[in-house]
Amino acid sequence: MCGIVGYTGKDLALPIILGALERLEYRGYDSAGVALVEDGKLIIEKKAGKLRELVKALWGKNYKAKTGIGHTRWATHGSPSDENAHPHTDEKVRFAVVHNGIIENYLALKEELIKEGVKFRSDTDTEVIAHLIAKYYEGDLLEAVLKTVNRLEGAFAFAVVTVHEPNRIVGAKKGSPLIVGVGEGENFLASDIPAILPYTKNVIVLDDGEVADLTPESVNVYSFSGEPVTKEVLVTPWDLVSAEKGGFKHFMLKEIHEQPKAVVDTYKGFLSVEPSIPFSLKDFRRVLVIACGTSYHAGLVGKYWMERYAGVPVEVVYASEFRYGHFPVSDKDLVIGISQSGETIDTKFALQSAKEKGAFTVGLVNVVGSAIDRESDYTLYTHAGPEIGVAATKTFTAQLTALYCLAVRESDEKEQLLKRFEKVPALMERTLSSAEEVEKKAEKYMKYKHFLYLGRYLSWPVALEGALKLKEISYIHAEGYPAGEMKHGPIALIDENMPVMVVAPKDRVYEKIVSNVEEVKARKGKVIAVGFEGDGVLTQKSDDFIPVPAVDEPLTPFLTTVPLQLFAYYIASKLGLDVDQPRNLAKTVTVE
Ligand code: M6R
Repeated sequence: MCGIVGYTGKDLALPIILGALERLEYRGYDSAGVALVEDGKLIIEKKAGKLRELVKALWGKNYKAKTGIGHTRWATHGSPSDENAHPHTDEKVRFAVVHNGIIENYLALKEELIKEGVKFRSDTDTEVIAHLIAKYYEGDLLEAVLKTVNRLEGAFAFAVVTVHEPNRIVGAKKGSPLIVGVGEGENFLASDIPAILPYTKNVIVLDDGEVADLTPESVNVYSFSGEPVTKEVLVTPWDLVSAEKGGFKHFMLKEIHEQPKAVVDTYKGFLSVEPSIPFSLKDFRRVLVIACGTSYHAGLVGKYWMERYAGVPVEVVYASEFRYGHFPVSDKDLVIGISQSGETIDTKFALQSAKEKGAFTVGLVNVVGSAIDRESDYTLYTHAGPEIGVAATKTFTAQLTALYCLAVRESDEKEQLLKRFEKVPALMERTLSSAEEVEKKAEKYMKYKHFLYLGRYLSWPVALEGALKLKEISYIHAEGYPAGEMKHGPIALIDENMPVMVVAPKDRVYEKIVSNVEEVKARKGKVIAVGFEGDGVLTQKSDDFIPVPAVDEPLTPFLTTVPLQLFAYYIASKLGLDVDQPRNLAKTVTVE
């Protein structure tokens, strides 16, 4: 949560920092700010609200600085206000800091600094970093940062600039992501790769306990104890086009439409590494899948496939529950952590704890070099490209792709099952070509305040995911439920004001779910059904029918997911809501 960026180089820093913040805004958007080093002083501009408020405040100001830092915030300590916005400075405004993470011992440090006479301006934990750096500074910013990081507890990535050394930025990382973009005559620090894509594809991924020291001409990395560290420069496969809207009104809509490509790329990526995957699901007594949010839903779908094709029991657990629960885990378990960002702190910590107990850990991530990628025993990748919309879409179907491939490689029918999968991208394209029909349904239902989403078997996680999409971007209450459980409680909610979205492809539970549709109709509920094209029964029994192409039973989630994403998207968009940056959310959740 929070995005940080730093630039030092040959060009004007402000437009570069603002552009980078725009591409990082998905990480937090409560407030934004910049610090520029110009003519021997620090210029600090910061504003509560979205980045556009900061841009308005900067309008017409032609700063000449070539070194600066920027921040886009998701508030943890202190409400979103101008004062609490980053950057934070020392009292004399000689050092400015932007920070992502939480300094857990900030109260103790604050008390210590107050006793020394320091006056604080904000309620944030971050401000202690600026005061500590000022306290320890004796002519070398790197030295002051090294002394400071060794006083800090918690998770952090921060960048600091100072008037004393105008062409230098120092960044430090422990627990929160931080990368260096290596340019020509310019260098960058950022929370994530999209920030720097217009300028360079050369990236150094910092590890926990490392400090990066940047000038326009040099990048040096040190451990927290001050030892030089040799780092590899990676070339990211992501490009700028994939981090821009490309004519779509929102990133989310663009990313929904990118799904056939995300699925193909992930499939090809999987096949290219498949012969070298160093484990078989069948080697383990159990598979544990750990994830949060949408990634958890992907895990639930994966469970059906893994149990079906590998015959191994699979448990899917919320990462936030795993960590403090009492799950007996040992070296007989395979633990798969699914995370688009690869940085979700609950998933990261849960995987670490499973590893400590001897389990073999596998990360399934979209971001190469992310924490989960680096810390897992083995990593599988989704190749969805950067996902900017806060609501996960293409990474979900890409995760499904990787999980499907991982499961079917255990089957005697592997070749046929993979062959059948190859039809999926084209069928997804066909599903997407009916987006306008879904838009009409969204128009019809956008005023309802509550929705129930039902599915059974493979369609139950799809229903959960559809409900999550609707609630997170439209703020409409939506509950996902296994259809068979409806009669055990939720049926009491059914009336004409509670539309029910039923996911009902023709699979082994089709007849059962048609009965659930009848039960809803008998109680004056309104049914929107997603089913196979040409399904006369559902067309007749439901109020609105959304067809998807017929496909083999195991592959249905790839198609039934798409109209649910579109339905949520169009409702939120028609309600005039900020689809890509819904309130209170952040794309990457790096706090517990
Ligand atoms: O990066 P991760 O996959 O670990 O993120 C997990 C969740 O935070 C994420 O899926 C979240 O639920 C999304 N907003 C869903 O659209």
